[in-house]
Amino acid sequence: MWVGAIRIHSPEGKDFILFSYLSHRDEFCDQYLASTDDLGLLQRFIRTVSRRFQRWNRNKAHVIVANAPNIDIDCHGQDETMFLPHAMLDDIESQVAAFFTGRDIFQRLGIRHQRGFLFVGPPGTGKTMMMRRLIRTCHQQYKVKFVTLTIGKNTDEGELGMAFSMAEAQAPAMLLLEDLDSLTRESQVSRSAFLALLDGLKANKGILIIGTSNNPEQIDPALIHRPSRFDRVWSFPVPELALRHRYLAHHFPGMALDIIESVATQTGNWSYAYLNELRTTAAILAVGQGAGEVTTEILLQATTTLASQFNAGRKSHTPSLAERELGFKGA
Ligand SMILES: Nc1ncnc2c1ncn2[C@@H]1O[C@H](COP(=O)(O)OP(=O)(O)OP(=O)(O)O)[C@@H](O)[C@H]1O
Ligand SMILES: [Mg+2]
Repeated sequence: MWVGAIRIHSPEGKDFILFSYLSHRDEFCDQYLASTDDLGLLQRFIRTVSRRFQRWNRNKAHVIVANAPNIDIDCHGQDETMFLPHAMLDDIESQVAAFFTGRDIFQRLGIRHQRGFLFVGPPGTGKTMMMRRLIRTCHQQYKVKFVTLTIGKNTDEGELGMAFSMAEAQAPAMLLLEDLDSLTRESQVSRSAFLALLDGLKANKGILIIGTSNNPEQIDPALIHRPSRFDRVWSFPVPELALRHRYLAHHFPGMALDIIESVATQTGNWSYAYLNELRTTAAILAVGQGAGEVTTEILLQATTTLASQFNAGRKSHTPSLAERELGFKGA
């Protein structure tokens, strides 16, 4: 909601009007709508204001959501150990690091400083978790800004264009687009408009676009088969036995190894989100039984309960609404 108007007088005698923004939480935000006929004055004002109010908090990465409330991601605290094949994790992280540290090289070689990475795979395999991880490192190490958009059926070109311009204004920045296939399939955004936005970003700004999708087969080939759109695609599979084993051993540290092995064997085709649910189910059982911890019996009981649900058809984890909204909440 825009409230209040302030008239700013500049020393040159020119002035403009500033409208302040009141958020849905009844807080004044660092967003203003300014009106003036003097662009130079406005730009100076913006530079001064952003220098004055720039708050870089090492512990919190601020994600600007173009069409919804912004999200803060805690860079410390929560145990977010990721289990992925090491080579894949290293590859993603080094590609992202090379992008943000290599600005001069891109410029010297006259290469477009824009790339697109795509994470594809079934629900609950770590695509959003990987984004959170990248946000944390990029915030702390490269002071990168983050912009995203909550894609829904009402998302239109205006909203998407707004996210792109915000990323451009904040560059170097990461533009995060979750559920990419639904963007052109279910929203109001046409394929050509999306391609035009991707291709129309200023070439030297330093914008890394990261998209996710559950349905790679529905992704438009035009997005993948052209450099600077989405030039790298990583597949996030459901974990194999060895990774399930590592995950379970990490999260049930006191458990005997033969039990971990047995649970890892019984959970074939489970996504990480499903394995995560096993932790919750076991914890709830422990509380219900008045046990102070997850015992072997409780873990096996929880596994049997979830396995029967899994086999009854709920093959993949269905993320909660909060997780859907970029999964960043509570991060
Ligand atoms: N590779 C992983 N290592 C450890 N835990 C994981 C991993 N992947 C997922 N998880 C667990 O599963 C939860 C859900 O994962 P996440 O939200 O990243 O899935 P997703 O791939 O984005 O799914 P969707 O396609 O439904 O959006 C995470 O919060 C985490 O607890
Ligand atoms: Mg996700």
